[in-house]
Amino acid sequence: MAIQDPPYNLVAFERRSTEEYIDWSRRWIRITYDVLAKNASLYVWLGADQNDGFQPLADFMVMMRQEPFASRSFITMRNQRGYGTQKNWMAVRQELLYYTKGCPAFKIEAEYTDIPKILRGYYKEVKSVVTENLERSKSHTIRAGNVWVDIQQVFYRMEENVSGCYAQKPLKSVERIVRASSNKNDAIVDLFAHSGSTLLAAEILGRRCFSADVDPVFCEITIRRLEHYRRTGRLGWQNGHPFENEMPEPFQSANGEAPLPSRMPSPQPTLFG
Ligand SMILES: C[S@@+](CC[C@H](N)C(=O)[O-])C[C@H]1O[C@@H](n2cnc3c(N)ncnc32)[C@H](O)[C@@H]1O
Repeated sequence: MAIQDPPYNLVAFERRSTEEYIDWSRRWIRITYDVLAKNASLYVWLGADQNDGFQPLADFMVMMRQEPFASRSFITMRNQRGYGTQKNWMAVRQELLYYTKGCPAFKIEAEYTDIPKILRGYYKEVKSVVTENLERSKSHTIRAGNVWVDIQQVFYRMEENVSGCYAQKPLKSVERIVRASSNKNDAIVDLFAHSGSTLLAAEILGRRCFSADVDPVFCEITIRRLEHYRRTGRLGWQNGHPFENEMPEPFQSANGEAPLPSRMPSPQPTLFG
């Protein structure tokens, strides 16, 4: 399977024209297709700039219609904290597209959340007996469906936090995808490693991961995160950072976050702020 989380064509990140961005995306999509097995899943995290015609998400979806992947689901992960103004709907969503090549398995068990089913009703007659929804259920918790409301955004107080990684995806979200669309020892490709969330989820769940990042600092962070996990069992650096051996000084920034090496970008509040 592949889990791709490209940069979102933001002003802060050497923004290209939408056409250039889509041409570039087509290239890594084709590379992804070529390296995937005959039956495999592809997940792509991508944002929509609501102040600019919802690019690049809308254009990406249209581009994908020309590619040999089948569209399967358009998932929204709801953030707890949002951004926006008093004049617009608060922006709290992150989009995740699910495509398939061939006919990969989908493991429905991965979809169940820890949220109990609380709504009663929806009566139905089964073999002449009127049953209530919960009596017919296979599970007493709800399925995540394509709107995920049970995943905490990563912030500096969480164990999995990696300081300086402004676009880190929560491990729980990556684990859900990996469980749903792969088996033990399967290979996962992630061309945009950043904080190494895909690599770490693969390690935890016994999958093999091939990951890359154009920025050597993020490659180093990804490697250090895996080594840190293997050494300590910790998922990130809640009260530290990946370069603490080189920068051991205890230091607290104004918001209480650990220090950042100078080459790393400052944490961004969220997408398209
Ligand atoms: C949105 S982040 C990925 C976040 C990641 N899923 C995580 O949870 O930490 C995008 C990453 O892509 C990298 N990147 C940008 N352009 C790239 C390219 N052409 N090839 C590989 N990586 C690139 C950036 O350096 C950045 O680390």
